[in-house]
Amino acid sequence: MSEGIEDIKRTGYCGDYRIEDVGKEVVVCGWTQKQRDLGQLIFIDLRDRTGIIQLAFDDETDREVFQKAFVVRAEYVLMAKGIIRERTAKNKDIPTGDIEIAVKELKILSKSETPPFEISDSSKVNEELRLKYRYLDLRRNEVKEKIIARHKILKTARDYFDENGFIEIETPILIKSTPEGARDYLVPSRVFPGQFFALPQSPQLYKQLTMLAGFDRYMQVARCFRDEDLRADRQPEFTQIDYEMSFVNQDDVMNIAEGLVKRLYKEVLNIDLQVPFKRLSYNEAMSKYGSDKPDLRFGLEIVELEDMVKNTEFKVFANVISNGGGVRGINVKGMADKLSRKDIDKLTDFIKSYGAKGLAFTKINADGTVSSSYEKFLSEEEKYGIRKKLSAENGDLLFIIANEKVEVALTALGALRCEIAQKLDLIDKSKPNLLWVIDFPLFEYSEEENRYVAKHHPFTSPREQDVDKIEKSPKDVYAKAYDLVLNGNEVGGGSIRISDSNLQEKMFKALGFKEDEIEERFGFLVNAFKFGVPPHGGMAFGLDRLVMLMLDCESIRDVIAFPKVASSAELMIGSPGEVEEKQLKELGIKIDVK
Ligand code: AMO
Repeated sequence: MSEGIEDIKRTGYCGDYRIEDVGKEVVVCGWTQKQRDLGQLIFIDLRDRTGIIQLAFDDETDREVFQKAFVVRAEYVLMAKGIIRERTAKNKDIPTGDIEIAVKELKILSKSETPPFEISDSSKVNEELRLKYRYLDLRRNEVKEKIIARHKILKTARDYFDENGFIEIETPILIKSTPEGARDYLVPSRVFPGQFFALPQSPQLYKQLTMLAGFDRYMQVARCFRDEDLRADRQPEFTQIDYEMSFVNQDDVMNIAEGLVKRLYKEVLNIDLQVPFKRLSYNEAMSKYGSDKPDLRFGLEIVELEDMVKNTEFKVFANVISNGGGVRGINVKGMADKLSRKDIDKLTDFIKSYGAKGLAFTKINADGTVSSSYEKFLSEEEKYGIRKKLSAENGDLLFIIANEKVEVALTALGALRCEIAQKLDLIDKSKPNLLWVIDFPLFEYSEEENRYVAKHHPFTSPREQDVDKIEKSPKDVYAKAYDLVLNGNEVGGGSIRISDSNLQEKMFKALGFKEDEIEERFGFLVNAFKFGVPPHGGMAFGLDRLVMLMLDCESIRDVIAFPKVASSAELMIGSPGEVEEKQLKELGIKIDVK
């Protein structure tokens, strides 16, 4: 090679070149996807973040370069200089498939051992292995594309907030433990032995303080940490697009969110969304869909059936009715022959995990014959009453859940409708489904703690008309809180905050905090509220979840560069890990578990 390749400048990415570039001299760099040795000829597929280009080597034209290409193996890092020419055998599957580079100079920048799995979109590799070698997994096109799309979503969001007058303000990561629902991650302090920082579950209090400080419109791409059991849409550390606004009402905050989602879909996916999004009250969402994040891409609405069986002699329903419980049902239209007895048994097990005791069913076959688990116990009037209320016709499959607790019947049916929709492919996936759930209860009763807890967080404002009920009848108090639901997943939530210190105090008391606890945990906030509080409210999007749903991914891990697995461990770096005795000593910590 005549010049040191270090002095040669890359002219472009592998995926940049097309037929129009034939004749140009180019320099590309990347990883070896594949080396094919055809005797006289060698072809190398060179990959970088934009795609693949074919390098061609001819033994007869340039033996020296050919011999270098001969030793190249998968994942070797190369720099190649050559002339673009038209291919004889074209590859319609890749954008650069009309051309190749006739290589004049080649440098192997780095060799590679045989990777633990083949880096290609088609290879099926188990997730554990992929995550252990995540840096290799990220080389795969489909994995990398998601990370790049995430960048685009985040960039668009930042632009949007900037254009709307929001200021990005970073808030601390080492903070103090304040109750927000999940368990905190704690960080021991060396300077104050026995004391701990907590990692923020969200920047909630700090963002409220930026409103007190007069910034008027705050936003932050904020890392949040919650030590909770993981699911497909949860990570122990995740990112929020968090914002807060002063001198606004609930609609103003929701408008900003709608504008953002509309913009993201348009710019990133070229999909036009209609705003405003549909709004459902919490009570309506629960009673019709058994969920506070209902998926409305399919029907299967829940129907109230108590009236149909209020005088029944059938013990199961009668007991529930006399205890003030719920008898609710759904009609799976036209699907009587799609679910077997075995399927129904499986669904029965499924709903038991939601606390329901059983699943009653009626199959009305297309020919009008019926098999049912409960109809024989009912009077004709009751039987037909139920069928009518459920708009049952031949071919339909009816499910009923009765439970002393209406919420249990609803939640179980809510889960059942999703399960059935999935199983029978009833979900309309042609466009995203967005809706707001509003008017959440301010409190919910915690059986575990035997007291009311805040459904969102303790700084959420009640509706004006409900303030007087806070002490007497907390369960009837509704909040100025709203969640945004995308395809049955909560992608964001927020509220108008309490901006009156008396009301805040009332709220803390209703939640069972004692004076000294309030002082200890929220003293700074109570104090701050003495110095002029603008009315304010805000919201946070779960960025990872939003990206996951926009890109149609199965798991939140797919859209995080270095995610954690269900046990909250990170397999690649091997965290969490033990630390040296010396470090523990400095922190005054003794380990009590083997
Ligand atoms: P909330 O707790 O509802 O509100 O969180 C906002 C959004 O963050 C996402 N999210 C998560 N994503 C991934 N993994 C998790 N473990 C996880 N937990 C939550 C969800 C959720 O809708 N401070 C308030 C917001 C406000 O009132 O302004 C808050 O944190 O998509």
